[in-house]
Amino acid sequence: MNIILLGAPGAGKGTQATKISERYRLPHISTGDIFRANIKNGTEIGLLAKSYIDKGELVPDEVTCAIVKDRLTWEDAKDGCLLDGFPRNLFQAAELDKFAKIDAVVNINIDFSLLMDRLCGRRVCKECGESYHVSTLNGATVCSRCGGELYQRKDDNPETVKSRLEVYNEQTAPLIDYYTKRGIILNFTGSEAPADVLFAEIAAVLDKKIG
Ligand code: AP5
Ligand code: MG
Repeated sequence: MNIILLGAPGAGKGTQATKISERYRLPHISTGDIFRANIKNGTEIGLLAKSYIDKGELVPDEVTCAIVKDRLTWEDAKDGCLLDGFPRNLFQAAELDKFAKIDAVVNINIDFSLLMDRLCGRRVCKECGESYHVSTLNGATVCSRCGGELYQRKDDNPETVKSRLEVYNEQTAPLIDYYTKRGIILNFTGSEAPADVLFAEIAAVLDKKIG
C-alpha cells in the first residue's frame, strides 16, 4: 500500500506521518527530511537543495523525482510506503505514476491563519526529529523524548513561510483535484485540536481501507 500525505506547510504532515508509519508499518519517506539530511552532510544534492529551500521554493523536479524513484527501490519499501511532501506539483505526480501505484492520498486541509504561528514557533529535535512549539517549551532547549538539542528550521521564518504557502497554493493545491478525479483522496481537516485527535480520524478511515 502506497500512501501520499498531502497538505500545506505546517498542516501536520510530518506529525501524522510518524503515527501512520508506526501503525501500518510503512516507511516514512519525506523529501524535506531527505534534503535536510543532505544539507547536514554537505552533499552536492544538499548544496543545491539549500539554495531553493532557504527561499521557500521547490527543489528542481528532476533531482527530487530521481531521489524518490531510487528510495522506492529500497527493501523496506517493497510492500509500500508513506510519501510525505512528494509529489508537490502536477509534473511530480505524473512522474510518480510511472514508477509507483498510489492507493490512497491523505489530504490535510487547514485554515492558513494557523500556519504562520505553528511554523515560526516550531522547534525540532536534531536527534529524533520530534517537533515542539516554543509556547509549550517553558524555555527548554532539549528534547523531552531523547535529550537531543532543539533547533529552528531555517525556512521557518515569516518571509520564507509566506513564500512556501504561495508555492503550495500555486503548485501543490492542484493535486487535490488530480487525486479527487482518480477517486483515491481521503479528506481531513486539521485544526487547533491535538494531533492525536486528527490521527484517530485518519486511522479510523485507513483501518477500513487497509484492514
Ligand atoms: P518539507 O520538509 O516537506 O516542509 P513543508 O511541506 O513546508 O511542511 P513542514 O514539514 O514544514 O510541515 P508539516 O506539514 O510536516 O507539519 P508538522 O507535522 O511539522 O519541505 C521543505 C522544503 O523542501 C520545501 O519548501 C522545498 O523547498 C523542499 N521540498 C520538499 N519536498 C519537495 C518536493 N517534492 N519537490 C521539491 N521541493 C521539495 O507540523 C508543523 C508544526 O505544527 C509542528 O511544530 C507540530 O508540532 C505542530 N502541529 C502539528 N499538528 C498539530 C496540531 N494538531 N495542533 C497543534 N500543533 C500541531
Ligand atoms: Mg514536514
